[in-house]
Amino acid sequence: MRLGVCYYPEHWPEARWADDAAAMVAMGLRQVRIGEFAWSRVEPEPGVFDWGWLDRAIDTLGGAGLRVILGTPTATPPKWLVDAAPDILAWDRQGRVRGFGSRRHYCFSSQTYRQEAARITRAFAGRYGMHPHVAGWQIDNEYGCHDTTLSYSPAAREGFRRWLRFKYRDIAALNAAWGTVFWSQDYGGFGAVELPNLTVTEPNPAQVMDFRRYSSERVVRFNQVMAGIVREHSPGRDIMHNVMGFVTDFDHHALGADLDVTAWDSYPLGFLEQYWFSEAEKVRYARTGHPDIAAFHHDLYRGCSRGRWGVIEQQPGPVNWARHNPAPLPGMVRLWTLEAAAHGAEYVSYFRWRQFPQAQEAMHAGLQRVDGAEAPAAAEVRAVAAELAALGAQTVERAPVALIVDYPGLWAMEAQPQGADYRGIELLFRAYEALRRLGLDVDVVSAAANFSDYAMVVAPVLPFVDEGLVARLAAFEGQVLLGPRAGSKTADFAIPGALAPGALQALIPLKVTQVESLRRDVRHAGDGFVVERWLEHVESALAPELATDDGHGVLWRQGGVRYLSCWPDAGLWRAALVAMAGEAGVAVTTLPDGVRMRRTAERIFVFNWGPDTVDPQPFLGDDDVTKELPVAGVLIANC
Ligand code: GAL
Repeated sequence: MRLGVCYYPEHWPEARWADDAAAMVAMGLRQVRIGEFAWSRVEPEPGVFDWGWLDRAIDTLGGAGLRVILGTPTATPPKWLVDAAPDILAWDRQGRVRGFGSRRHYCFSSQTYRQEAARITRAFAGRYGMHPHVAGWQIDNEYGCHDTTLSYSPAAREGFRRWLRFKYRDIAALNAAWGTVFWSQDYGGFGAVELPNLTVTEPNPAQVMDFRRYSSERVVRFNQVMAGIVREHSPGRDIMHNVMGFVTDFDHHALGADLDVTAWDSYPLGFLEQYWFSEAEKVRYARTGHPDIAAFHHDLYRGCSRGRWGVIEQQPGPVNWARHNPAPLPGMVRLWTLEAAAHGAEYVSYFRWRQFPQAQEAMHAGLQRVDGAEAPAAAEVRAVAAELAALGAQTVERAPVALIVDYPGLWAMEAQPQGADYRGIELLFRAYEALRRLGLDVDVVSAAANFSDYAMVVAPVLPFVDEGLVARLAAFEGQVLLGPRAGSKTADFAIPGALAPGALQALIPLKVTQVESLRRDVRHAGDGFVVERWLEHVESALAPELATDDGHGVLWRQGGVRYLSCWPDAGLWRAALVAMAGEAGVAVTTLPDGVRMRRTAERIFVFNWGPDTVDPQPFLGDDDVTKELPVAGVLIANC
């Protein structure tokens, strides 16, 4: 696995570039990503290009021995373009134009922007496509970040109408699919259809779902066009995009199909602070990150890729953008790096070389401080570079468990949550966490994947099931666990006539007759678990495998198929997974809370997120390893 760094030559005097490049190489870095926000410095006026500085930057960095990954700068359209063509801007849900002055200020539906983006991408790719130092490309930067997948602009409305016309052909079909008979929502033609925003109360969820599908396709198509341009001018170079953590607004499987390398940006401390983790978790893991945040995304994006993936931005110290921005514990930058290796990453690249003293990210750490001295992460990077060289390549093998993620299913939970804290991504993450706490390696796969060779398939969020998926699940010989609300929606977002789990009733004979969303303090206790948030009332001739003390069945089973009819807590996940692993013949290990394991063909990695030193001998069953794995420590044992 290579190490690299993100660098902004345009932030620094040219006289420093050569020293920076030499220092990168001396630190053990072999790759540098540049250019992804440099539009205004490359094209300061329409059609007037200043390539000189970028030519020299690439020559200096490449000449020092670094592989250059060049970004296309479409995430930051310059001011002159915004002024000349304000229709490139996105509109927010409240119908306000999202203005200039930060980044990602463009609308995927804007034809003007698509043309401009293609033009600047062609200019970059044309100039550097065959450059000997340019080893790869990053298209744009973090699609979807800052809530930028959905835009409610006039261009989006036009695009959505065209998309609907293509999908439904006949407006009567749209009216039927959306149930527009309700509240007199009937449309007389596609040209009359509105976007699902600015409604008095909630918009029609079937319309929301179609808009989510349309918006996702726009992102994927934008990337496909830009990747196509780069590929044409730069054959044989790797094309990648850097996706974000916990952003699920577009279909990352579809995106990954057009990339050579699916890269992602790993900010374990920022993500912990920013998302729905409990206060206790935020405190406990403040300086390490939750033990499953990075791993979940490694496995998720490996599954979205065509086999090659990497971390193109790795948090090196405090970030600037979370509500609180602690520093990683000493050792964590090394741990995060080794963890990526254990999951099969091709590279880890740190964000960024030197902290820039100005603008929005002035407070964000780098490998060097503002004064040019090394920041704390630098020594760890140097050490882990040597360690990785000694470790050698790691081979990722098929895990015993496939965890299904279906992006439209996640959007469905947002289109009609039916409970304030029903978050599909959280449910998915908690399933992953429960599997990893049992010492299991996990492959995160799409609903279209061939999972026949796995021992266990877990689908925490699967409201849509098509015939093919039902057939594949029926033919599957391993153990299946379906989460709440599986099969609860038809393709048109209606409740199935036979009730949930719809077509999955062919696998397990039960019917969900009523659902309840519950406040967190309305609780139903069971043996070793507590149900809150969501409870389904189930009608079935089956006896529940597990029930609450007050008699609600929460886990149902027929043969190798199980169904969870509530929002499970850690105890219930564990009980369900232990039961199915037992039948699948998959060995589980009970790990201490803050410890995780990951196997490659060559090694077993053990990571300690704390808060205490642990003795790994009992769960590794190996008396030869250390008895003391400190917090932020990594143990690498032979298989
Ligand atoms: C990423 C982004 C970078 C930088 C970084 C700061 O999301 O791609 O450009 O902003 O965050 O943490």
